[in-house]
Amino acid sequence: MSSVPANQILLEQNRPARSPELDPSTLSNFENFKVNTTRLVLQVDWQQKILKGVVKYDLDIVQANVSQIVLDTSFLNIANIKWNKQTIADFSVASRREHLGAALVIPIGNAAKSKNNSLTICFSTTENCTALQWLTREQTSGKTTPYLFSQCEPIHARSLFPCFDTPGVKSTFTYIVRSDHPVVVSGNSSEQPLFSDDEDEQAVINAGKGTDYHFYQHIPIPSYLVAIASGDLTSNDIGPRSKVYTEPANVNACTYEFEADTENFIRAAEAVVFPYEWKTFNVLVLPPSFPYGGMENPNITFATPTVISGDRQNVDVIAHELAHSWSGNLVTNGSWEHFWLNEGWTVYLERRIIAAVHGEAHRHFSAIIGWKQLEESIEAMGASADNYSRLVVNLKGGVHPDESYSTVPYEKGFNFLFMLENLLGKETFDSFIPFYFNKFKGKSLDSYMFRDTVYEYFKDQKEKLDSIDWDTWYFTPGLPPKPKFDTSIANACYRLSDKWLEAAKGNGDYSSFSAKDMDGWTSSQTVVFLDTLGDGLDKLDLGVKKNLSAALSSKYHLSESSNAEVISRWYRLATSAELESEYQRLADFLGTVGRMKYVRPGFRQLNKVKRELAIATFKKNDTFYHPICRSLVQKDLGL
Ligand code: BES
Ligand code: ZN
Repeated sequence: MSSVPANQILLEQNRPARSPELDPSTLSNFENFKVNTTRLVLQVDWQQKILKGVVKYDLDIVQANVSQIVLDTSFLNIANIKWNKQTIADFSVASRREHLGAALVIPIGNAAKSKNNSLTICFSTTENCTALQWLTREQTSGKTTPYLFSQCEPIHARSLFPCFDTPGVKSTFTYIVRSDHPVVVSGNSSEQPLFSDDEDEQAVINAGKGTDYHFYQHIPIPSYLVAIASGDLTSNDIGPRSKVYTEPANVNACTYEFEADTENFIRAAEAVVFPYEWKTFNVLVLPPSFPYGGMENPNITFATPTVISGDRQNVDVIAHELAHSWSGNLVTNGSWEHFWLNEGWTVYLERRIIAAVHGEAHRHFSAIIGWKQLEESIEAMGASADNYSRLVVNLKGGVHPDESYSTVPYEKGFNFLFMLENLLGKETFDSFIPFYFNKFKGKSLDSYMFRDTVYEYFKDQKEKLDSIDWDTWYFTPGLPPKPKFDTSIANACYRLSDKWLEAAKGNGDYSSFSAKDMDGWTSSQTVVFLDTLGDGLDKLDLGVKKNLSAALSSKYHLSESSNAEVISRWYRLATSAELESEYQRLADFLGTVGRMKYVRPGFRQLNKVKRELAIATFKKNDTFYHPICRSLVQKDLGL
C-alpha cells in the first residue's frame, strides 16, 4: 500500500466508512431505501394559505430487517399513511429537533429487501411552513391576484411535504397541482393528464377548485429541487427551448433582459460539459421578496427581479443557474457539508460560459469580484470562520445549513478548481470536465470521492496531484493562495479609485471628477471601483471619508443606479463613512428588496450606524420579507 502524502493525512482521517458520507442534516433513515418515483399531488388552498397534498413513493428496501421508515417533516400535519395499500395507524411524529424538524416514524413490521413498495401519505402544510411565501394581491405587481412560491434548498422541502430531505436521495417526479391560478413546478408540463386511480389522490384534488396542472420530471432529482409557484403568471419565448414566466406587467422587460443571451449560454455550457439533458430551460422572475439572486430549480430557474435592470448586465445570474443543470442538478453534493461541489463547480462553469461568450478577460474580471467577496465574507464571519471558511464544513449536531451559507463554497470552490486547471493544464482539465459529470450524473458525491476521481482521471500525473495541499484546501479555515488574475478590465477601475484617494490625501478638492469618469463602463466595473475605493478609504480618518463620500454621491448619483450590485456597494461605503444623509435612503432601499445578499448586509450596516432606524425598518417590512430572510435578519439584529 502506498503511504499517505503528508498533505492528505487529515483527508484520510476524516474519510467516512461509507461513500458518500451520511448527511447530518436529515433525520430520515434514507440509507435503507432507494426511491424510484415520487408522485406529488397538491391542492392550493388560497383561503387558508396552505397546501393540501398526497405524496406517493415507489421505493425499494435495500437493507435487510428494516422495521420503520423515518421521513423528515417540519411543521406539517400528517393525516393518514398507507404502506403497500394497508393503512398504518400507529405512525408517530417525534418531538421537534431544533433546526432539523420532526421525524415522521412509520412502522412497517420487519421488512425484507424488496422492490417497488408503495408509501402514500396525506398531509397539509401549516402557517409555520418555511418553504413557502404567500403574498397577498397587494404585494404583487398586478395587485389583482395572490401569489405563492417555494424555496426548498437547503432543508425546507420537509416543511412542504414529508420526504427523505437529503441531497443524497434522488427520484423522478410526477406532479399534479390544482390551483385557481397558473402553476409552474420544477418539471416539464405534460400534454397528457397524469391522474391515477388512487383514491387518496382523487380526494385531495376533488376537495379543491381551480384548474389542474400536470408535470413530470424524468431525471431523478433530490427533494431540495422540488419547486412550485402559482399566481398571475404569463410567459414569453426567450430562446428555442426557453421561456420566461412572470406577472403580465413585467413580461416585456423580462423578455428583453434574457432573450439575447439565454440560448448562447446553453450552447456555451454544452460545449464545456455535454448536451443539456432537461429539455427546456425556463426562468421564472419572482416578486421582489424572493430571498436569493437565483435558484436552479430544474426546468424553471427562479430569479430575483433585481436582475431586470434594463441593460442585460445581470445575466450572469442566468449563466450561474443554468450551469447548475450539470453541477448540482445532475451531479449533486451528498450533503450540505460538501456544498462547494454544487456551488464552486457552478461558479467555475458560469465563468467558463462567460469566457466563451465575452472572452477570457471577462472570466478573470468576474473572478476578481469574487475574490473580493470571499475576503469580505471571511472577515465578516468572525469566530465562525473557524468552521465556515473551510471548503468542507462541519454540520454535525444539528446546525442549520442556512447558518453556514456564505461566499466561501462559491469562491474558495472556484479557486480550488481554477488551481487544478492551472496545475494540470487547461486542455487536460477540459477533458476531465465531461468525464466527471458523466461519472456522477444522476448521483450524489462527497469531497473524498471528488479527490479520488481526480486521482483516477489524472493517474499519469500523480506527482502533481500529490503536490496539492488537499488538507489545507479542504479543512483549513481562511483564504486560499491568491492566483494571478488578468486585470485588463479592472485596471480602469483601479486607476479611478487611485485618483480619488490621491485627491483625498491631497487637498480634498474633488472638482475635477464628473460622471464622465465612468463613460462606457459596465456596472461590474463600477462595482470594482467601489470595492477598491472602499478598501483604500478604510485607512483614512472619518472626516476625510465623509467628505469624499459626499463628493462621490454628488458626482455619480450612485444610490440612483438601476443596478442593485452598485447600490449595495454604495451603501456599504456610505455607512462606513457615516454619511448620515444616506441612512434613510438605505432604509427605503431595504423596503424594496428581499434578496438576502443585499438585505442582510444592509441591515447590519444600518444597525451599526443607527440601530433605531434598522429596527424600525425591519418591523415596518417584516411581512414583506420571506420567512427565511426574516428569521436570519432577526438573528443578525439580535432581536
Ligand atoms: N443554489 C443557490 C441558491 C441557494 C443556495 C439557495 C443555498 C438556498 C441555499 C443559487 O444557485 C445561487 O447560488 N444563487 C446566487 C446567484 C449568484 C451566485 C449568481 C445568489 O442567490 O446570489
Ligand atoms: Zn448556485
